[in-house]
Amino acid sequence: MEAPTPTLKLASLKEAKTIASLSRDEIEAGLGWRWRADAITAMIRDPDAIVVCAYVPTGNNTADQFAGFGIMQYELDHAHLNLLAVVPNYRRLGIARELLLWLEKSALVAGIDTVALEVRAVNVPARSFYRNAGYLENEYLRHYYRTPDGKSEAAYRMHRSLRERRFRPS
Ligand SMILES: CC(C)(COP(=O)(O)OP(=O)(O)OC[C@H]1O[C@@H](n2cnc3c(N)ncnc32)[C@H](O)[C@@H]1OP(=O)(O)O)[C@@H](O)C(=O)NCCC(=O)NCCS
Repeated sequence: MEAPTPTLKLASLKEAKTIASLSRDEIEAGLGWRWRADAITAMIRDPDAIVVCAYVPTGNNTADQFAGFGIMQYELDHAHLNLLAVVPNYRRLGIARELLLWLEKSALVAGIDTVALEVRAVNVPARSFYRNAGYLENEYLRHYYRTPDGKSEAAYRMHRSLRERRFRPS
């Protein structure tokens, strides 16, 4: 597919359900669904968080398609990337990169230098994405996620200083 140029925009409340469904299916599968529409709505309303959506043109005189989203929350000394996902059909087109760059820029403008996130250890594609974006796996969290069947799943905590290097060319 030819890379469409995504349009990024702040999420509105009516997008909360769509975002929550993508999180359930593509981020939280097997973990239990924590980021439901009410939790996403709370993020959209939170003055210390940013929820950004990516839309791509379809070229058929129809409305642009929802292609992905990211949520960043500002803490006192760093920003935390809570969620980031791209709709499967639109992957490997640079959309997550655009979302992340946009969120990182907003953190820099807010005077924040460090972004942190947790990612499932089994999520090898996402770990590759973040490493490519300059994030370091600085902590292994063996029992970070609790699964609905009472087991646990490991995560990596990753971070990046925004004043250091940008995306490496692949
Ligand atoms: C991880 C994810 C967000 C990447 O989105 P994307 O839009 O496909 O990523 P991009 O096209 O911006 O990729 C940028 C670079 O990251 C790396 N990358 C992205 N996906 C990758 C994959 N599946 N395997 C290896 N490297 C990957 C590549 O270096 C890529 O550059 P290239 O395509 O020129 O080689 C997407 O796969 C996704 O939504 N996964 C499910 C949800 C998820 O795991 N979210 C992250 C945890 S919250």
